[in-house]
Amino acid sequence: MSIEITYPDVAINLVRAKDPVEVTIVENRIATEAGSPSFIRHITFDVSGTPLEGNITAGQSIGIIPEGTDENGKPHKVRLYSVSSPSRGEDGQSTLVSTTVKRVIDEHWDTKDIYTGVCSNYLCSLPVGSKVKMTGPSGKRFILPEAANDFNYLFFATGTGIAPFRGMTMDLMEQGVHNEIAMIFGCPFRTDLLYRDYFETLNQQSTHFHYLKSISREAPRGDGSKHYVQYQLIDNRELLEPMLRKDNTLIYVCGLKGMETGIYQILAQQGYLDYLKIPEELQDKDPASWSWEEIKSIKPSDRMHVEVY
Ligand SMILES: Cc1cc2nc3c(=O)[nH]c(=O)nc-3n(C[C@H](O)[C@H](O)[C@H](O)COP(=O)(O)OP(=O)(O)OC[C@H]3O[C@@H](n4cnc5c(N)ncnc54)[C@H](O)[C@@H]3O)c2cc1C
Ligand SMILES: NC(=O)c1ccc[n+]([C@@H]2O[C@H](COP(=O)([O-])OP(=O)(O)OC[C@H]3O[C@@H](n4cnc5c(N)ncnc54)[C@H](OP(=O)(O)O)[C@@H]3O)[C@@H](O)[C@H]2O)c1
Repeated sequence: MSIEITYPDVAINLVRAKDPVEVTIVENRIATEAGSPSFIRHITFDVSGTPLEGNITAGQSIGIIPEGTDENGKPHKVRLYSVSSPSRGEDGQSTLVSTTVKRVIDEHWDTKDIYTGVCSNYLCSLPVGSKVKMTGPSGKRFILPEAANDFNYLFFATGTGIAPFRGMTMDLMEQGVHNEIAMIFGCPFRTDLLYRDYFETLNQQSTHFHYLKSISREAPRGDGSKHYVQYQLIDNRELLEPMLRKDNTLIYVCGLKGMETGIYQILAQQGYLDYLKIPEELQDKDPASWSWEEIKSIKPSDRMHVEVY
């Protein structure tokens, strides 16, 4: 790969946890459809008048400090949330910043009662007009390059991992996209297709934009496996192969920890080694024979960005 990739120098840590800013929630709406077992909300904050105004780039995260204290009586720690608004904000004025929050609901380790995640439920339950403590921005690497429209993109997301790609896609569209974008999104059910209207409309309106859905818990693939994002590389090879072959294509991966490994495996099997950093001991071995442990030793090259938690 000869093409040079440079990234804008974005601001980070302008507001730290020891001195957070107070911002107001201006929107808090459900983003999953009726019947979904998940509760995911699109939440927008007014950051005007704070150091965050004008300084948050799509792909970065903001931090939220929930009210109250933990089980040791200490103030809660900051939790990070990916920004889902474009770099100029929901309002085009860089004052309204959004995120996409999933309520964490689990069984309590000790009591076996319901455990509700502290910050996700705090945020999702707050009405419009509430004030919250915010920090940020954080993250310097998971952003679009300078001259962003000189590249093609494969965006792989699972669940709320779609947040940064909504903002990035909006940034690309605003700049007048002339390259190709494939938004590959995985979720359990059709009711969980976050920002579905936005992505479906783009898919219909633009020949440059492709929206591929991997719904894991409905009909299986032909071989009985679940529809996972990485299998789009096989099931939609005709569309994705010409993109992957281009020197100016970048891959971004965001969402569930572990999702990246399946993507590495299929890219390697299909021969797209430019996107991967392969350890020396694997270089003479046929990718089809790599064990799962060996695949896990692969790292992304400078043409792939991975943010999974
Ligand atoms: C860079 C980055 C970006 C992120 N972006 C997003 C985003 O855009 N959207 C999003 O929704 N999330 C995002 N996250 C995750 C987010 O930061 C939080 O981790 C998430 O919301 C859970 O926080 P919580 O306070 O609700 O849960 P916590 O209360 O902190 O619990 C965390 C985990 O521990 C388990 N747990 C803790 N205590 C118990 C217990 N006693 N019994 C059983 N289980 C327990 C919970 O079930 C949960 O799985 C991101 C994380 C990172 C690092
Ligand atoms: N910037 C960031 O780093 C960032 C931003 C946002 C979110 N996140 C993280 O992303 C995660 C999103 O979780 P969620 O609960 O919102 O997701 P979710 O709605 O449960 O969707 C996840 C989807 O991925 C599938 N999946 C499971 N294992 C997979 C694998 N190995 N490879 C490919 N697909 C796989 C799931 O299928 P099945 O469940 O049916 O098997 C499901 O369809 C959270 O952990 C969050 O912290 C990170």
